[in-house]
Amino acid sequence: MWQHFFEREKKILNPYIMKLNDHKEYIMYDKEIINSYKNRWNEYFKNDNPIYLEIGCGAGNFTIKNSVKYPNRNYLAVELRFKRLVLASEKATKRDLKNLVFLRQNGNDILNFIGSNEIDGIYINFPDPWEKKVKNRIIQPKLFELTDKIMKKNGKIFFKTDHYGYYLDVLEKLESINNYKILFHTDDLHNSIKKEDNLTTEFEDLFLKQNLKINYIEIEKEV
Ligand SMILES: C[S@@+](CC[C@H](N)C(=O)[O-])C[C@H]1O[C@@H](n2cnc3c(N)ncnc32)[C@H](O)[C@@H]1O
Repeated sequence: MWQHFFEREKKILNPYIMKLNDHKEYIMYDKEIINSYKNRWNEYFKNDNPIYLEIGCGAGNFTIKNSVKYPNRNYLAVELRFKRLVLASEKATKRDLKNLVFLRQNGNDILNFIGSNEIDGIYINFPDPWEKKVKNRIIQPKLFELTDKIMKKNGKIFFKTDHYGYYLDVLEKLESINNYKILFHTDDLHNSIKKEDNLTTEFEDLFLKQNLKINYIEIEKEV
């Protein structure tokens, strides 16, 4: 399939697809190769350090800041858009980071490439609120069926959004989702006790410039 992408005429091709091959150290895009690491990500990173997943990492600022701050953790960062993946890889290359990899993957397909209990924490930052098609939101009950499988006991999900309705919706849904409890939530992260430890994303920096409040929820898987 990928050969097909690379060989299609350039005029209809996203130029960032052509760049993927220059970023092999940090971007994996071949689904077969990605899936082959299911249950083996610690082999990929060559250590037994905890593994954190970011879904929809955009141009990578958040995962890169984390991997610099926490060199004893590993990071898998999933994103669909080629340009954002290439920008993320360029930043990782500059810093010569060894504890992260960007995957061109769909966050809904995590069971294809992540095994049981492989993940210590999941970050979902500023996902699309899908105002007119709420059922498309990534955070909904079926997501927790997936995270049940891949996340360790006491693993955490961290969610940030500028969208107050999405924040309230997740708080409400969590009331009826078994096995997860809310550890902390605020509708103003940057005026909360979590501000100091918070690492910002690209979208978050833009929202802060517009003086928008950031909503935040920390959720723990109990068993
Ligand atoms: C609003 S942006 C936020 C980017 C980044 N998290 C930030 O806060 O700056 C949402 C990102 O999620 C990606 N995305 C949307 N649906 C996705 C999915 N199903 N799997 C992986 N990435 C997805 C989009 O391509 C986009 O880059």
